[in-house]
Amino acid sequence: MNNVFAHRRRQLQARLAEEKLDRLLITHPADWYYLTGFTGDSGALVISREAGKGAALVTDGRFVAQAGNETNGVKIVQQGGALYPAVGKFLAAGRGRRVGFDSGQLTVAQHSELLHATGKRVAWHRASGLVAGMRMRKEPVELAAMRRAALLAGEVMEAAARMLKPGIREFEVAAEIEYQMKQRGASGAAFETIVAFGERSALPHALATGKRLRKNALVVLDLGAILAHYCSDITRTYFVGRASSRVRGWYRAVLEAQTAAIAAVKSGASCGEVDAAARNVLAGHRLDGYGLDRYFVHSTGHGLGLEVHEDPRVARGQRKVLEPGNVITIEPGVYFPGVGGIRIEDDVAVHENRTEVLTRVSRDFTEI
Ligand code: GLY
Ligand code: MN
Repeated sequence: MNNVFAHRRRQLQARLAEEKLDRLLITHPADWYYLTGFTGDSGALVISREAGKGAALVTDGRFVAQAGNETNGVKIVQQGGALYPAVGKFLAAGRGRRVGFDSGQLTVAQHSELLHATGKRVAWHRASGLVAGMRMRKEPVELAAMRRAALLAGEVMEAAARMLKPGIREFEVAAEIEYQMKQRGASGAAFETIVAFGERSALPHALATGKRLRKNALVVLDLGAILAHYCSDITRTYFVGRASSRVRGWYRAVLEAQTAAIAAVKSGASCGEVDAAARNVLAGHRLDGYGLDRYFVHSTGHGLGLEVHEDPRVARGQRKVLEPGNVITIEPGVYFPGVGGIRIEDDVAVHENRTEVLTRVSRDFTEI
């Protein structure tokens, strides 16, 4: 793995040369893990364009030994005092005046501490998304981890569906889901598990409550596991009891929209086109004079990897063109306030000439 991290750092150094930056400050944990393997949650990484200089990680005493064990070819600098003044001091003492930072990752307070500590010795330049751009193109070793994380999430989804009996509470299902993930080797959940019974399924991000499952109810389960650092994210909607033809029709429409969006995923297609594929199908299904797209209140999907939400965004008008190595979710849904909602979500990898669906759980309408 250490070669993988060193290789990524070399790629980033080439990008710094293109951007005419001497050094880049990296303050986002997923980004520094990607570049070094360091899993601690406090620190700052400085990548220098000069090949010999390489990388330095400033962190506190809790993480110094760990950082030494987890990284290779990275200078570990123990901070004295607070992090950002220490990082500023480190930068001011080193060579390379033009330093990039990601304005999306620093708070105003952190930024002013850095400015204060570096004074005129550093010329700060906004350089957003350099590492995020690299992280969008998954390498084979990352895709292998993501396949495993997706299969694990699928197994947990199937186990959770077997728990859906009238009387059970949402938080019991959520707790069992997270237990089952860890039993199967996950380090944890990629996000707080969503369990929504009945009319609560109309809330796209309904976290589990004490609500009990009744007969004849929609159930939305949205879960993701972190395995070997990589996230999965899957949603299924079940029906406990016998569904009306109206609910079946909604489900068919969402499934058709998801199928169309997955079919639109290919190298060279834009994220906006993928989003439109889902939305157009829903627009063709009418309810009370409106297209069902009116009830699809979020974007079609998002990038997935070390974090559950990362680039690219699969949303209306997004021009980003998909390329091999991208992994995205496809998750259209419809939500009828006070009545219920339906969402179906899978994780999809883009390859040169094909699309790979990583999550493997039946999408057929299922009555329990
Ligand atoms: N599955 C949670 C989300 O995509 O926000
Ligand atoms: Mn998602």
